[in-house]
Amino acid sequence: MTSSPPSASPVAVVTGAARGIGLSTTQLFLEQGFTVVMVDRDAPELERVSSALSGTEPLVCDISEPDQVTELARELTQRHGRVDALVNNAGVADFRPLEETDYATWREVMATNLDGVFLTSQAMLPLLKAARGAIVNIASISGLRASTLRVAYGTSKAAIIHLTQQQAAELGEHGIRANCVAPGPVDTKLALAVHTAEIRAAYHDAIPLNRYGSEREIAEVIVFLCSTKASYVTGQVVAADGGFQSTGVGLPAMRNR
Ligand SMILES: NC(=O)c1ccc[n+]([C@@H]2O[C@H](COP(=O)([O-])OP(=O)(O)OC[C@H]3O[C@@H](n4cnc5c(N)ncnc54)[C@H](O)[C@@H]3O)[C@@H](O)[C@H]2O)c1
Repeated sequence: MTSSPPSASPVAVVTGAARGIGLSTTQLFLEQGFTVVMVDRDAPELERVSSALSGTEPLVCDISEPDQVTELARELTQRHGRVDALVNNAGVADFRPLEETDYATWREVMATNLDGVFLTSQAMLPLLKAARGAIVNIASISGLRASTLRVAYGTSKAAIIHLTQQQAAELGEHGIRANCVAPGPVDTKLALAVHTAEIRAAYHDAIPLNRYGSEREIAEVIVFLCSTKASYVTGQVVAADGGFQSTGVGLPAMRNR
């Protein structure tokens, strides 16, 4: 297989780019002059949003399917021959008690949230090496602090944090940095599907900034970690969470107001 000449502009690959945090990250990369390869398994939505964003290339791929990820890497090799930034953002959420989490549900969550990140990063390695690129994996505060209902989701996200550290340890000698962003709650379709009114109210109480984050606020951290401004930062997890993770006892009744 022959590779095409290197792209003139840096290339970012964002998984789960058809909506939510992935879409906002795509828009920010575009503002910074990147060509953005938008990856998602939702083909109609991916086509719709990508067609309205010049500088993007949609590639349909289910990152939990090894054969599809191999094909994605092959296509990227032919088109660009390099990846400057890989954002492993695609994720699924399922909130239910441990006793009700059947094996199929567990596997479904792990397949995208953990296996997908492993597969995509591994398949992109030659392309990342070519650019001495950066990986940013999207975990969650659910991977930093345990809570009810998140036995599969929280465990998958905790594993992503460690996977990031493994990547940083092994890939540094190739000039590849790997970092992790752990968002707090953000109003996306994913959160709307699993956050009840009670969960929303509880988050507002428990978060020092007293609100959900925006997709753009998460994207800013992701794009910073991919940029040369973060050129000596690797193996780190940054919680973009309004202060949730750092606050051990944040009882609303003990606030000074
Ligand atoms: N929204 C939040 O409150 C929140 C909080 C913490 C972490 N996160 C994490 O941020 C990331 C993005 O979340 P979001 O809220 O923007 O979600 P979202 O549901 O709005 O968007 C996720 C996108 O990923 C795609 N996707 C899912 N599984 C895929 C797969 N196997 N292959 C390819 N594409 C796939 C979906 O089609 C969708 O377009 C996820 O990893 C999520 O766990 C979100």
